Amino acid sequence: MLTAALRSVNLQAQRTIMTSSAALSGKLSALKNPLLVKSQSFINNEWVGSASGKTFKVHDPSTGEQIGPDVEECGSPAEVEKAIKVAKEAFKTYQNTTPKSRQDMLTKLYNLMLANTDDLATIITAENGKPLADAKGEHMYSASFCEWFAAEAMRTYGDVIPATIPGMRNVVIKQPVGPVAIITPWNFPSAMITRKIAPALAAGCTCVIKVPAETPFSGLALAQLVKEAGFPAGVVNIITSEDSKTVGEILCASKDIKKVSFTGSTNVGKILASQSASTLKKLSLELGGNAPFIVFNDADIDAAVQGAIACKFRSSGQTCVCANRILVHTDVAAEFTEKLVAAVEKFKVGDGAEQGITHGPLIHSRALDKVEHHVNDAVERGAKVLAGGKRIKGNFFQPTVLGDVPADAACLSEETFGPLAAIVKFSSEEQVIEIANDTDVGLAGYFYSRDVGRIWRVAEALEVGMVGVNTGVISQATIPFGGVKESGYGREGSKYGMSDYEITKVICMGGLGTS
Ligand code: SIN
Repeated sequence: MLTAALRSVNLQAQRTIMTSSAALSGKLSALKNPLLVKSQSFINNEWVGSASGKTFKVHDPSTGEQIGPDVEECGSPAEVEKAIKVAKEAFKTYQNTTPKSRQDMLTKLYNLMLANTDDLATIITAENGKPLADAKGEHMYSASFCEWFAAEAMRTYGDVIPATIPGMRNVVIKQPVGPVAIITPWNFPSAMITRKIAPALAAGCTCVIKVPAETPFSGLALAQLVKEAGFPAGVVNIITSEDSKTVGEILCASKDIKKVSFTGSTNVGKILASQSASTLKKLSLELGGNAPFIVFNDADIDAAVQGAIACKFRSSGQTCVCANRILVHTDVAAEFTEKLVAAVEKFKVGDGAEQGITHGPLIHSRALDKVEHHVNDAVERGAKVLAGGKRIKGNFFQPTVLGDVPADAACLSEETFGPLAAIVKFSSEEQVIEIANDTDVGLAGYFYSRDVGRIWRVAEALEVGMVGVNTGVISQATIPFGGVKESGYGREGSKYGMSDYEITKVICMGGLGTS
């Protein structure tokens, strides 16, 4: 007779076999490297099935079809506590690895990501819906965080500070903050994970990641590559669950988790911050935005139209840095609007996996409801529909341009997170800065101008964490990404992104003689 332990091992093995055969149907069956299709949580470098035996399905937002195997529900309190325990244990040794070894592992991860580019982009398109070209763009952006932070691992410099006490020497060192919890969104299923784990791993932290239930496969594929890159067991752990509320609450309240990094809505960010209050842990919150995109009357209008297309309609408007309010000087409003509408009418909307598609679906029907509400609300208040304005079918919404949007329209004060360009006219620099800053959030802001004095004035006056001048695209691994006001705090990417995963410790050594 089998012992209970053997029976459980057998069950696990059976599940793994079922998982691999189930992977043979759906869009993920097209992958060249089937090892990248995983559907269980990843704990201590092992694939671990659900304790309850429950699963959930992941659907292609373009077709509604299931894209791969059922994913195991692993978000019970006991399973989350287990992941935390593993990360805590692994931290004891991982924190003492050399920066050079961490650099080598991250470089290996970067190279493995590049070697699997087509498959990783296919997964992003299948679960998120963005067109394949955009998915490749996200994938390269995602890999670039591993490349950047591999190098940063070797630059965790400290400091020597002159003493005010005789015989003392003051030395500042950087240390990893500890095991961290990482909670990521569905709009960038890959890049929002590496933007957080790469600095964490470079600094010497271990991680427990909660991947979104809409898009878990990109994170699980990355975990497979993390293992192949040689990261020790327990350094990266992933929880698959539809129950974000329970998982988030346990991670935030845990005394063993020393930092939480979250990208998502301002509402959820506030909840996580309050749940983290009892332990006063470090937080990085990259939350919602309401980006102004300003076109001055001295702007290059064709460049501004191109910038607006990239900024507003990338990922069908589902990015937190995308333009939410397009503010155009009255002198150039007619020309800009006409050219923007002409460009939007050329978009090819459809299944992101198909050739020639420029814009994909929204993630689910709730997202469409919000866009539809914003369009109808603005039109009721007097805005004009200049392009689109309606649902197509399934999760598709027509790329939309609204003109003459009145100041009280909901789409100007709330983040639409969809393909809606709301145009508002202004007549002076002073007025537009007031409009741009009249919001509780401040993530990104953009403007087009060829006047160097104005460029400095406006860039400094905008209440945001990131300003794009004469560009609609700012995202790079090398810049500090983050906001002000209710867009959150902390910075990701760049040399500043490392310090979010470090503590700064001063060592004051006395009795060292005079000087
Ligand atoms: C986001 O939408 O949260 C991130 C967008 C980006 O990094 O470009």
